[in-house]
Amino acid sequence: MTWLVGLGVGRSVAGMAEAPAIECDGLTKRFGKLTALDRLTLEVPRGQVFGFLGPNGAGKSTTLRLLLGLIRPTAGSARVLGIDVGDRKAAHRHLAYVPGDVSLWPRLTGAECLELFGRLHGGVDEAYRAELVERFELELDRRSRTYSKGNRQKVALIAAFATRADLLLLDEPTAGLDPLMEREFQRCVHEASARGQTVFLSSHILSEVEDLCTRVGILRRGVLVEVSEIERLRTLHATELEVDLAGPAPDLHAVPGVQAVASTPEGIRITLSGPPGAVLAALAVADVQAVRTREQSLEEIFLTYYGDGQR
Ligand SMILES: Nc1ncnc2c1ncn2[C@@H]1O[C@H](COP(=O)(O)OP(=O)(O)OP(=O)(O)O)[C@@H](O)[C@H]1O
Ligand SMILES: [Mg+2]
Repeated sequence: MTWLVGLGVGRSVAGMAEAPAIECDGLTKRFGKLTALDRLTLEVPRGQVFGFLGPNGAGKSTTLRLLLGLIRPTAGSARVLGIDVGDRKAAHRHLAYVPGDVSLWPRLTGAECLELFGRLHGGVDEAYRAELVERFELELDRRSRTYSKGNRQKVALIAAFATRADLLLLDEPTAGLDPLMEREFQRCVHEASARGQTVFLSSHILSEVEDLCTRVGILRRGVLVEVSEIERLRTLHATELEVDLAGPAPDLHAVPGVQAVASTPEGIRITLSGPPGAVLAALAVADVQAVRTREQSLEEIFLTYYGDGQR
């Protein structure tokens, strides 16, 4: 089943205009003994592009389902655009949702799926939708059961952006997209943001949301461990530099930006934060055979900064 709901335009609910896009207050969800989300308190103002980051199983999708009222909280409460998430009928008018695993009606063509989404929402910006179909290079006349994961993702994203809803809830929206389509997606987010829409999107890759989001929250094992402006988060963000050396390694410990240096069979591995200029200059005296860079995963960032992950 595809959950993709809402039409944002032109309706208003008392108190809606001033309320933040998202307010969670001690929001908690337990599945038996497992606490999937542990007392989440978070406010996302209107018009913000908010990145909700966390490794697999952190509780991102659970949070989105709670915000949609698809599951009930064990404790705490949440409001979207001033409306309690339990009041799904009212809330869903103003939001659109793209789930992590998009499934469509297999016998319908792409065009028919978009049409049906449009009717379910009560109407869409048709000109914008047609433009997005072009931009995402979606083949509309194929039956959706022949679509790849990426194509199904595109249908759901086009349908969601075409609603022009006040709030877009997107669960790992770029997971199935190739780099070109990911760029197109980023353009759509910028366009939505420029119109004053709020975008709340989840991801498990920091670099993926860095250029997109103004603010980021990091969830780990159901606990929100960090909420910061993207600028501050960049300082948490390290790159690993693997350097193969034919001769001895230079001493890099005092070089600005170098957090750690470890030996490898071929040379050294440098953990670096900030610009690489100083470390590259220091390496110039060594007999460097090859250099490979790698972004740290969120999990590695957690291990670096929070030890075993418990703050
Ligand atoms: N309906 C459910 N019943 C039992 N456990 C569940 C249910 N839904 C989620 N969980 C558990 O809750 C935890 C959080 O899951 P969730 O899907 O929210 O994580 P996620 O951050 O979206 O992960 P991913 O990056 O893999 O999508 C996981 O341990 C998961 O197994
Ligand atoms: Mg998920």
